[in-house]
Amino acid sequence: MSKILLVEDDALLLDVIQNILEAEGFEIAPAVNGKQALAYFSGNKPDLIVSDIMMPEMDGFELLESVRMLPNGVTVPFLFLSARTERADVSRARMLGVDDYLFKPFDAQELVDAVRSRLDRRRMVELFDTRSAHLQTVIMLANVIEARDPYTAGHLERVRRLALNLAFALDWKNEEIVILEFGAILHDIGKIIVPSRVLKKTGPLDEDEWKLMRQHPDVGAKMLEGVDHLKAAIPYVLCHHEWWNGSGYPSGLSGEKIPREGRLLAIVDAFDAMTTNRPYHISMLAKDAIEEIRLNRGIYFDPDMVDVFIRSYRS
Ligand SMILES: [Fe+2]
Repeated sequence: MSKILLVEDDALLLDVIQNILEAEGFEIAPAVNGKQALAYFSGNKPDLIVSDIMMPEMDGFELLESVRMLPNGVTVPFLFLSARTERADVSRARMLGVDDYLFKPFDAQELVDAVRSRLDRRRMVELFDTRSAHLQTVIMLANVIEARDPYTAGHLERVRRLALNLAFALDWKNEEIVILEFGAILHDIGKIIVPSRVLKKTGPLDEDEWKLMRQHPDVGAKMLEGVDHLKAAIPYVLCHHEWWNGSGYPSGLSGEKIPREGRLLAIVDAFDAMTTNRPYHISMLAKDAIEEIRLNRGIYFDPDMVDVFIRSYRS
């Protein structure tokens, strides 16, 4: 339930607004002036502040200024209620970082709409911040793996970009694209178990080395199992070496039994491997790699996805 700190010196108006917002399911912490409102911040963090401007003791401007200096108040959305419509007031409030302004007299619906839109906006911003913080951590983790294998420098970033382009071209939903980004960055995280001398080997791998290498999708998937916000990326990690004809690993799945996350990543991962220098081959030109992908449509790769990849490829 969203907590709203409501600051209003007019007892009747305070009561009316409190009733309107409580009827909409919000939890209200009432305060009769800025000082009282500020005291609320020790130990509490409201989701929104709705405040009058003209109040005794500490007015709305002072309150806003003080709240913006508190560690738990910097980002709290702040909505002013005021009868004063002078331009100077509005611009002063904006300079202090107010998020919205509601002029008295307002009706109940206007108030509820303004409150809801500020809270929705805040939720979106928070979600975005959390997601990008997670992404930064994941990139750091993936860079550790990439750093052990100098031949693949930049591989993760390119795979991420190619995967995003292909997912957009395939019209995947935004929620899926968010997960795809994590999956593309983490797909080889299981290579942590492969010694770097094996990763850097220029000749063919011996049987034991190959066995170890083939475990990286399973190992990576297990690493993500216990992490709530990364679990959804497991199909990318687990299935990016499954081939359309069933000859891939770890499970030898074929056709549409391979989750589409794995089918998508298989194409862009192979494309990037072909177009960059690796210990075991010199890089190909993009147009030759595209031709190679095309030749393997229906063999290694999902034929429909290959068509979209070729149509939408941008260097
Ligand atoms: Fe891999």
